[in-house]
Amino acid sequence: NSATLAHAYEDHFLIGAALNEDQIYQRNAEIDAIIRTQFNSIVAENCMKFERIHPNQGGFFWDEADAFIAYGEKHDMAVIGHTLAWHSQTPEWLFLNDEGDNVGREELLKRMEHHITTIMHRYKGKVKGWDVVNEAVLDDGTMRQSKFYQIIGEDWVEQMFRIAQKADPDAELYYNDYSMAIPAKREAVHALVKGMQEKGIRVDGVGMQGHISLEGPTIDEYEASLVRLAELGLVMITELDVTVLPWPGTELTAEVSMSVEFQNEFNPYKDKLPADVSNQLTQRYKDMFALFLKHEDKIDRVTMWGVTDGATWRNDWPMEGRTDYPLLFDRANKAKPAVAEIISLTQSD
Ligand code: G3I
Repeated sequence: NSATLAHAYEDHFLIGAALNEDQIYQRNAEIDAIIRTQFNSIVAENCMKFERIHPNQGGFFWDEADAFIAYGEKHDMAVIGHTLAWHSQTPEWLFLNDEGDNVGREELLKRMEHHITTIMHRYKGKVKGWDVVNEAVLDDGTMRQSKFYQIIGEDWVEQMFRIAQKADPDAELYYNDYSMAIPAKREAVHALVKGMQEKGIRVDGVGMQGHISLEGPTIDEYEASLVRLAELGLVMITELDVTVLPWPGTELTAEVSMSVEFQNEFNPYKDKLPADVSNQLTQRYKDMFALFLKHEDKIDRVTMWGVTDGATWRNDWPMEGRTDYPLLFDRANKAKPAVAEIISLTQSD
């Protein structure tokens, strides 16, 4: 079957992947072929983050981001920018003055205006949309006490969107966050975005990161958030991957510890993913994509957070020694059974 994800889903929603440095520079021909044929949208996994693209106050580093944009243009893909303002991977200098003290609100706003405007101007007309602010809300629904929050104040998210809207009125602007199936977080994000929209600030939609596991969140929980957030505009499933590993400290079931050669408590599947777990992964992807198809009128894009298991951020996280299997293509760069299943979902209607 020569059907690809991009082809099967072209009348439904965009199918994307996050690209790392090796993929942007096409260092592996097999993986490059997967990206070109299976996906029609790309996002930068790391190269547009603040510390990468603007490592010191004196200047920007454009090489990798330029290559990323050129790759998307060449293959006629919807290019997504990630991310303009995030508490993580942001260099210290941004928040400090020459004396080493925190800068004040006006100075930080000025620096962020320079950062956001410079990047958005450079890629104007080439980026479909930007994750303007990433992960500003905590799982309990309170605002993250980041440096941005502490220095700028409660309205910091709003200020970032004001800047972005001015810098490129034609690019879509998104708020992006994880664990959005948690009701308290979903409602807080809903209120945050709605509050901005009511003030006339443009937020085109919300990115629901999809860093999920085999068990959670449930399809119903995910659906409730998807439907609720769709009230605000576009919904993007932005960072989809499914860990098959237990969270550290979780007890392994007897079944799991008997079905595999036990390596260490965090990495039970080091040598080979057992068939039962592999089947669960296939089923999990099927259930998620069936949900996405059910709500395709609300979903603009589904983006995988990576291409093959060989280069997923899930390996060695949250501690070293983990080997995970969260993506749709395996370490040998072959499509997993989930790919054909996901494709066949579009052919049954
Ligand atoms: O490339 C350098 C390498 O030169 C260096 O030797 C090595 C030593 O630490 O680090 C390498 O960079 C790492 C980079 O990933 C590439 O592998 C960084 O340390 C590491 O922090 C970075 O992690 C990324 C993480 O965000 C933090 O920025 C992951 O790749 C990336 O998948 C992850 O993505 C985030 C999203 O942006 C936001 N949502 C959550 C998601 C998962 O954490």
